[in-house]
Amino acid sequence: MCNRYLWSPEPRPDGHDRRLARVVPLADVGCNAGIAQEEMLRVSAETLTVVDNRTGERYEVPIQDGTVKAMDFRRMRTSADDFGLMVYDPAFTNTASCRSEITFIDGDAGVLEYRGYPIEELAEKSTYLETAFLIVHGHLPSAAELKEWTHNITFHTFVHENVRRFMEGFRYDAHPMGVLVSSVAALSTFYPDAKDVDDAASRDLQTWRLIAKVPTLAAFAYRHSRGLPYVYPDNDLTFAGNFASMLWRMSESSYVASSVIERALNVLFILHADHEQNCSANAMRAVGSSRPDPFVATAAAAAALYGPLHGGANEAVLLMLNEIGDVRNVSEFVKHVKAGERRLMGFGHRVYKNYDPRARIIKATADEVFDVTGRNPLLDIALELERIALEDDYFIERKLYPNVDFYSGLIYQALGFPVEMFPVLFAIPRTAGWVAQWREMVTDPEQKIARPRQVYTGARGQKYVELGRR
Ligand code: ACO
Repeated sequence: MCNRYLWSPEPRPDGHDRRLARVVPLADVGCNAGIAQEEMLRVSAETLTVVDNRTGERYEVPIQDGTVKAMDFRRMRTSADDFGLMVYDPAFTNTASCRSEITFIDGDAGVLEYRGYPIEELAEKSTYLETAFLIVHGHLPSAAELKEWTHNITFHTFVHENVRRFMEGFRYDAHPMGVLVSSVAALSTFYPDAKDVDDAASRDLQTWRLIAKVPTLAAFAYRHSRGLPYVYPDNDLTFAGNFASMLWRMSESSYVASSVIERALNVLFILHADHEQNCSANAMRAVGSSRPDPFVATAAAAAALYGPLHGGANEAVLLMLNEIGDVRNVSEFVKHVKAGERRLMGFGHRVYKNYDPRARIIKATADEVFDVTGRNPLLDIALELERIALEDDYFIERKLYPNVDFYSGLIYQALGFPVEMFPVLFAIPRTAGWVAQWREMVTDPEQKIARPRQVYTGARGQKYVELGRR
């Protein structure tokens, strides 16, 4: 005898989850005989019918927004003391962990939108600070809102002198990303008020602090790696102009960046500001879900960004292009990639199965920057790699296209940055995205502490053996 579980919008009298209600025994129709026609009419079209062949039970699982709830599978049990079915999804390749209104990606079509605005339009018309407001607050600011937002961010660009001293303690050759991760975490100790994550005014204050101070820490990390004195913020400048000043000012009383470079920084910052549930945004949400202050959560997100499969990829691209060394060596390198011995860094993406729209914009920006800085000689190798890869069946079949990191490193290098600075430059604008994701998470009533399940495959019931007898 097997039972039917039908979805019903009405609460069940026994108080169980109303969305998965046991309603009809299916003895007459047979467990695998399909749903009788009249019953079919009562089954919502927006459901999934699951037959558990271990028990013969049949379930109707609601489908909402193209998803089924993993918890609905927990009710599928072989006995009363069975834990119930779990879904197994290492690396979350097919699991939505949240509802979000921030960033939309259509990976097959190569579409990226922040709050519904196409990335191409923002890159062409907006500034980083305006885009950061959009990402954080959900709408383009009015002139008054932008003025206030700009003031609030600018007002918070300085860091406590002890932060500067703390940063001086790093070794001369410390990787600037390690320096950034540590110093963002250290900000937590300067702002104990940031622990009040349920207070909206506090969240706003930490938002301004993070967006404002991360460029300062990034620039200090850069100056440290060069053995140069740190340059304090110049609040008469724009966000990008001030960052350029903190990087490159020497003895002049004020530093004014070339408008092309300032614009390029804005475009790069806009393109990197958010990218929905990527590895670092997921880290921000997961760490933030246990309700620490956003500084330590941002440090965790930045640590996730550091890896070569994420924000460290543009560093890896440059190392790869240097290793190839000459256009003539490209086809030999591609052979190694196709043999599975190497990865073509800057190619492929978990979500994009088309040309990453950010890569297209960065490629165009690179030409403008090279007009000022001179052409990066590695560009020819990159262009040849892209040409060969886009014609090759290996890459076509796997839908591997250039991602945002393929060309960004070439611009950064032309601007004089060492490769170690690349993920740091990524972290500056991504701070707005992390903060927006964090704000959305802490105010989402559906969210709880992030705590996945596991499939335990280890030993059980071992007997402890004394050290001398092992
Ligand atoms: N070079 C060569 N082959 C690749 C590459 C690559 N860059 N990326 C994926 N493949 C191949 C895989 O070997 C696999 O082939 P197979 O089916 O024969 O085994 C297939 O394409 C699918 O690859 P997965 O690793 O399953 O794809 P996944 O979605 O897990 O990985 C990732 C995405 C990590 C970005 C991957 O494409 C990669 O390592 N790229 C290089 C690193 C990089 O550029 N990262 C930056 C991403 S953008 C960002 O984070 C800002």
